[in-house]
Amino acid sequence: MAKALLEGKKGIIFGALDEKSLAWKTALRAHEEGAQIVLTNAPVAMRLGKINELAEICGAEVIPADATSVEDIENLFTKAMEIVGGKVDFVLHSIGMSPNVRKDFPYTDLNHDFFLKTLDISALSFHKILQTAYKKDAINDWGSVVALSYIAAQRTMPGYKDMADAKAMLESIARSFGYYYGKEKKVRVNTISQSPTLTTAGSGIKGFNSFYHYANDIAPLGNASADSCADYIVMLFSDFCRMVTMQNLYHDGGFSYALSSDEVLAHYED
Ligand SMILES: NC(=O)c1ccc[n+]([C@@H]2O[C@H](COP(=O)([O-])OP(=O)(O)OC[C@H]3O[C@@H](n4cnc5c(N)ncnc54)[C@H](O)[C@@H]3O)[C@@H](O)[C@H]2O)c1
Repeated sequence: MAKALLEGKKGIIFGALDEKSLAWKTALRAHEEGAQIVLTNAPVAMRLGKINELAEICGAEVIPADATSVEDIENLFTKAMEIVGGKVDFVLHSIGMSPNVRKDFPYTDLNHDFFLKTLDISALSFHKILQTAYKKDAINDWGSVVALSYIAAQRTMPGYKDMADAKAMLESIARSFGYYYGKEKKVRVNTISQSPTLTTAGSGIKGFNSFYHYANDIAPLGNASADSCADYIVMLFSDFCRMVTMQNLYHDGGFSYALSSDEVLAHYED
């Protein structure tokens, strides 16, 4: 019988809020592929979300951690290493939040305290996680770290506001940390730029529904679903992608390289 893709591997998954979450789908896929996982989310999300249901399905322990707090992240890695009995092999950063997006402030009139919060939660948290793991030597050689990004890091998309800047920073952190982690420990660090997906974070963005359908029309393969995103993440965690690092990998059905489509152009025919 074929070996499961993540058999014997252990990992930490940040950001499973409910069954729509990209992290939720990934936890299920990683579990199916034989991994032992530890789940984590912000303490407030523990109360509002359903993470304990997921933990039961996956036989996983849940450790609360605010991803902006280095103290919480240190505690998380210490406890996770106790639970799995050593270092981990993979980490998923599936975290994003912008108070400016939530309050619908225009990009030209952002609240800058909120802007700092957006950057801290959605980008700097990735550096805090990587730095903590690096200092604690918490990831096995040839381990894999993935964070989720969005095309608005490269192309301007009205409505995504300061999250666009946060995603640009997130992708840059993957390249910068990927260099050092690769040199020292052969640990891979990548971001996946995912199609618009109907999740709590996704649908909080103004104009999301229209953009979801627009992207679906333009992408030759259509939008990538949350399930297919989970498949791609699990593949990146596996030993099949050992030489891939410091990349921003588009998982968007071809949207990022398609300028238009027959369907969209048909709207303009005279
Ligand atoms: N949904 C989309 O259209 C889409 C597209 C591309 C990329 N992404 C990215 O995918 C990732 C996951 O989002 P999702 O769409 O699954 O939505 P989601 O709302 O299910 O997940 C976002 C998670 O971030 C967590 N979070 C927020 N603040 C936190 C903090 N301080 N500490 C720890 N966790 C915190 C939330 O609790 C939640 O679990 C995000 O980075 C998002 O930007 C989403």
